[in-house]
Amino acid sequence: MARWIYGVGGFLVILSFSFFLFYSVRAFNITPDRPSASYTAPDYRFVLVTEEVDNDYWRLVEKGAREAATKYNVSLEYTGPKQANLEEHIKTIEMAAASKPDGIMAQGLNQDVSATIINRVTEKGIPFLTVDTDAPDSKRVAYVGTDNYYAGFLAGQALLKDTNDEVKVGIITGRFDSANQKLRVEGFKDAIKYSDRVDVVAIDASQITRIQAAEKTYEMIKAHPEINAFYGTSALDAIGIVQVLESIGMTDQVYVIGFDVLPETMQLLKDGKLEATVEQKPYEMGYNAVELMIQIIEGEDVSTYHHTVTEVLRKKDLKQLERTTPGGIKLP
Ligand code: BGC
Repeated sequence: MARWIYGVGGFLVILSFSFFLFYSVRAFNITPDRPSASYTAPDYRFVLVTEEVDNDYWRLVEKGAREAATKYNVSLEYTGPKQANLEEHIKTIEMAAASKPDGIMAQGLNQDVSATIINRVTEKGIPFLTVDTDAPDSKRVAYVGTDNYYAGFLAGQALLKDTNDEVKVGIITGRFDSANQKLRVEGFKDAIKYSDRVDVVAIDASQITRIQAAEKTYEMIKAHPEINAFYGTSALDAIGIVQVLESIGMTDQVYVIGFDVLPETMQLLKDGKLEATVEQKPYEMGYNAVELMIQIIEGEDVSTYHHTVTEVLRKKDLKQLERTTPGGIKLP
C-alpha cells in the first residue's frame, strides 16, 4: 500500500514539474540554443572599405550595400579609417584581403598606390570593385560610381550659367591626393577655361572635414578678398564654406556650389545660402556594387564602367524633388 502511495505521489511530482517547465519555457520565451530551421548560411562574404567610416556620405553607400546584401543573402562587412588617412586605408584593404572574403569593394586610392595595392588583392584571386573613386590603372574588375571628371565639368558649367561679370573662384577640395577630387577640380577648370571672366584664384584642402573646410575658407577670404565664388568638391566642403560666409554676413555676395545631397546641404539650398550642388547617388553605388560583385563571382561578363547618375541641383529644382530618396534622406 505504502509503495503504491509513494508511486502515485512520485508520478504527481514529475507531472507538475513537467507542467512547470513547459509553461516557464513558453512564458519566458526561452528558445533552444540551436539554429532555427529557417536559418541559411550566407552565400558570399563581401567587405566594403570606405574613405572614412563615419562620414554621412559613406553611411549612404553602406546603406545601399546592406540592403542589397540582405536581399541576396550576402554577409557584408563595412570598414575603413576613422578619419581619412591613406596609410590606414591601405592597411584596411590588406586586412580585408587577409580575411579571404569572396569580394572586396573599396574606394579607389590615390593614383600612385592604387594599382599596387589593388593588384596585390586580385592576385590572391579576390575580385575587387572600385566604388565612388576609380583606379583605372589597376586590375579592379569594374567601377561603380560618379564620373568624377564629368561631375566637375558640370559644376563649372553651372557656375558659368548662374553668374555674370567677373568671377574669382576659391576651391575647397577634399584631399589633394584623392583621385576623385583631382578629377572634379580638373573637370571644373576645363569647363571654365574658355571663359575670360571666370578664374580660379586659390585652392586648399579640407581633409574631407567641415571644420577644416571652414578654416580654409576663412584663410582664403583673408588672403584673397576678391573671391566672389566658392566651389566645394567633397560632401562637407560647401557646408563649411557657407558656415564662414554666414558668420561674416557674406552669403548674399558670394556664389557657392558644392557636392552631394546630404540633408544639411539640401537645407542650405532651400534657405538660399548655397546656390547649387552636384548630386551623386551613394545609395545606388553601394547597392549596385553588391549586385555586380555577385554577377562577377557567378561568372557573368560585366562591363567595366557603371556610372551612377550625376546632376546639378538648384533651389528651383527642390519642389519637384519633394520625395524620399532611396537612401532614406528626406529632401526638405
Ligand atoms: C566623395 C567621397 C568623399 C566624401 C567626403 C564625396 O563627395 O564622393 O569620395 O569621401 O565626399 O565627405
